Amino acid sequence: MKIIGEPHAMQGLAEELRGQGRKIALVPTMGCLHEGHLSLMREGKKRADTLVVSVFVNPTQFGPQEDLGAYPRDFEQDKSFMQEVGVDWVFCPTDKGMYPDGYQTYLTVEEVTQNLCGRSRPTHFRGVATVVTKLFHIVKPHFALFGKKDFQQLVVIRRMVEDLNLDIEIVGCPIVREPDGLAMSSRNKYLSPDERKEALALRKALDRARDLYRNGERSAQVLVDEAHRILGLHPCIRADYVSLCDTGTLTDVETIEGETVMAIAAFAGNTRLIDNCVLTDLGKEGI
Ligand code: PAJ
Repeated sequence: MKIIGEPHAMQGLAEELRGQGRKIALVPTMGCLHEGHLSLMREGKKRADTLVVSVFVNPTQFGPQEDLGAYPRDFEQDKSFMQEVGVDWVFCPTDKGMYPDGYQTYLTVEEVTQNLCGRSRPTHFRGVATVVTKLFHIVKPHFALFGKKDFQQLVVIRRMVEDLNLDIEIVGCPIVREPDGLAMSSRNKYLSPDERKEALALRKALDRARDLYRNGERSAQVLVDEAHRILGLHPCIRADYVSLCDTGTLTDVETIEGETVMAIAAFAGNTRLIDNCVLTDLGKEGI
């Protein structure tokens, strides 16, 4: 496994690999790796000859009041995880390397960034779309792998790739959970023992909505109210949103007909957690 920090050097390497006819898979991450990230890397290895993982805590996707400074970092542990999985190249640029003085170009994806996390994090997806586009131009992957845990992010990236005719296959991978059902996240490290227990409320609310859906309930309001009721039973948990959306447009639905996702964001103490379940997918994958 080799480490590369300079965008130009990475670009040169990518060009060379492509020249040799090698297929490149990219897994973009912000480090502090866990099994969720590693599952994307394993999938990437299956699909390509060369696996590149980027590790970059992207400042442009954090709002001014958010946790950029506190975001957990552990590059030594990340390296040993990546070595185990068999990552070929780690691309870990500096902030200045990605956003040199005078930087002023950003990418906006419109409708699908308006709802869900876009409401409470208005500049977040602009930062994500910008950095992912830069990573695509630097690493030149044939495949890029993203987790369904960040459901809206995956929809935004797919939209952007389609709209800009980017010649990259986007692969969405299942949510990896802790044994008790909590979706793995780098931010779980922030949770106190009490918050960690109550963080399961997100999964419980999704489970309850899924059960109601399976029993024939199709009213979004009923499912959303019930999910809020379950979150409300947990004193450490404060809901940001519970939404039932069309999986393509991410607009709220009133009645569940087409492919529909229930997405939840909630604070456990000061830590913002997200989780989701595609209700209409249950035959295939469950949650
Ligand atoms: P990060 O939060 O580090 O996540 C990197 C990738 O891992 C994302 O595609 C995310 O969806 C996936 N992931 C995280 N937890 C997961 C889980 N429990 N199961 C499956 N996949 C999981 O998402 C970002 O970084 C950034 O926004 C990034 C795309 C790197 C742009 O800066």
